Amino acid sequence: MTAKAKIIVLGVTGSIAAYKAAELVRRMQQQGWDVWVMMTEAAAKYVGPLTFQALTKHPVAVGKCEAVESSTYQHLDLSGRAGVVVIAPCTANVLAKIAHGLADDVVTATVLAAAGPVLVAPAMNSRMWQNPATQANVKTLKDRGVLVLDVGEGELACGEVGAGRLTELENIVAAVAQTMQKGC
Ligand SMILES: Cc1cc2nc3c(=O)[nH]c(=O)nc-3n(C[C@H](O)[C@H](O)[C@H](O)COP(=O)(O)O)c2cc1C
Repeated sequence: MTAKAKIIVLGVTGSIAAYKAAELVRRMQQQGWDVWVMMTEAAAKYVGPLTFQALTKHPVAVGKCEAVESSTYQHLDLSGRAGVVVIAPCTANVLAKIAHGLADDVVTATVLAAAGPVLVAPAMNSRMWQNPATQANVKTLKDRGVLVLDVGEGELACGEVGAGRLTELENIVAAVAQTMQKGC
């Protein structure tokens, strides 16, 4: 594995499943990967950036690029060096934005600037997931070579039962490992 391939950029978005991203960081680190976290403004309402900063020992970029306290173009710097850019959990909103090439915050700008593979693990209410708009966005991304993981089924945080759960963390780690092995 090259030094470049070991860097994982993890974009965390405003899903209730954002709390699972902290454990995901740990699981990724157990693989020997150097994880850098970026968050949408909404995600930071569910989990504090300090949690990720403490776990990764790296600064955590949140929200609009202009709001990121950094002397570098972090979205460009990291997106160029990452082995894989992973968005987990990915909201319906960010899924739609990246399907349309929008880049109005550090997470979506990083995806648009990614030099390597992008992997997305959606998490949302089942009606949001099944909405034709979301399904069209998933198809757009898959057609473009983005790896969109399947959602899990079962009880959702909102109390409903259906498809839309964040897939199990081991599935995300396995998919990232597989993507790296392909020599990306
Ligand atoms: C309690 C709560 C839980 C939410 N969970 C989800 C979710 O799991 N998936 C999703 O797509 N949106 C969810 N939303 C809606 C998003 O937070 C909202 O669309 C937000 O604007 C997303 O911002 P982001 O995509 O920039 O992170 C939730 C909203 C609330 C209030």
